[in-house]
Amino acid sequence: MSNSSSSPKNIPRDPSQEADDQVLDLALRPSKFEEYIGQENAKKNLSILVGAAKKRGEALDHILIHGPAGLGKTTLAYIIAKEFGTGIRITSGAALEKAGDIGSILTGLTDGDFLFIDEVHRLNKAVEETLYPAMENCSLDIIIGKGNSAKTLQIKLPRFTLIAATTRISLLSNPFRSRFGASYKLDFYDQPEMEKIVARSAKLLNIPIVPDAISAVAKASRFTPRIANRLLKRARDYAQFKNTEQVTDKIAVEALELLGIDEIGLENTDRKIMEVIAKNFNGGPAGLKSIAAAVAEEEDTIEDVYEPYLMRLGLLIRTSRGRIITESAYKHLGMEKPDNQQASLL
Ligand SMILES: Nc1ncnc2c1ncn2[C@@H]1O[C@H](COP(=O)(O)OP(=O)(O)OP(=O)(O)O)[C@@H](O)[C@H]1O
Ligand SMILES: [Mg+2]
Repeated sequence: MSNSSSSPKNIPRDPSQEADDQVLDLALRPSKFEEYIGQENAKKNLSILVGAAKKRGEALDHILIHGPAGLGKTTLAYIIAKEFGTGIRITSGAALEKAGDIGSILTGLTDGDFLFIDEVHRLNKAVEETLYPAMENCSLDIIIGKGNSAKTLQIKLPRFTLIAATTRISLLSNPFRSRFGASYKLDFYDQPEMEKIVARSAKLLNIPIVPDAISAVAKASRFTPRIANRLLKRARDYAQFKNTEQVTDKIAVEALELLGIDEIGLENTDRKIMEVIAKNFNGGPAGLKSIAAAVAEEEDTIEDVYEPYLMRLGLLIRTSRGRIITESAYKHLGMEKPDNQQASLL
């Protein structure tokens, strides 16, 4: 149910690869908390939440999971339902157009079930407001008729837990946010965690790979498990093309080079973004619109996919006046930082 044109899931690529990656996502998805690497804080809190609710025989509080694409939000939702031992119904913000769409899903749930709404920032107002009484007291309010003669009919719903995921927490309204009993932010993984994820995936996919190649793939993966899995698979393809069984560090590095990914995981578009800010805006501040036009990318994609990683690497800073690149960005581009860049903004 993803809509990759307006809500990017990851670095855009051709549709056949996207389908391939979805199969890969499913095959490699951890199904227990113990298999889920990193995100220790969210994992610990969630396992306590699940354990306590199970003991009390109650449904869990509603849960909001947010953070950049591909870090494991959907995976966590499935794990929660599995560990709790009840069913999970999956939908997404963009798929729910009318109040009736969410109404029919809610009435179809069984006691204790989970409802997972992906890309929850894309819910419209009518659907969001239908969710309020449902989240608060398991009640579905249906308005019959119009104007003065309109009546509200209340339907009792089964006890359910909403798990909502978003890459854009800032777009959620305060009343909606405040209805979640628990909210977790997933952060980018660190290098040792990424290496564990690559090693785990290699094992599951039966890919012989040397430790140096694991670390090269991990380093090029934008601290993001989905990208690590994708790059691992490309490295395996390249090894096969070269008629070798094993992914050596040489094979991994060459495969990454062929994909246009440099040693710190930057792609052509990342470099283009930094170059545009350096050359057209003297290092910044540069507005998102102008950057998007110059690199021929959607604004959403730049904000959701490219910038978080550039910021994490300390190459780019978002300020209220626009985007600025740092001294490290100039170094990475092999360019001289101009003296007259607005130092006060850095
Ligand atoms: N903590 C983890 N340990 C191991 N593998 C992981 C972990 N998190 C994610 N993955 C892998 O990355 C893939 C992508 O994760 P997932 O689909 O849950 O991300 P997401 O945050 O929901 O992304 P999106 O925002 O695009 O919906 C999973 O299929 C899984 O293989
Ligand atoms: Mg997801």
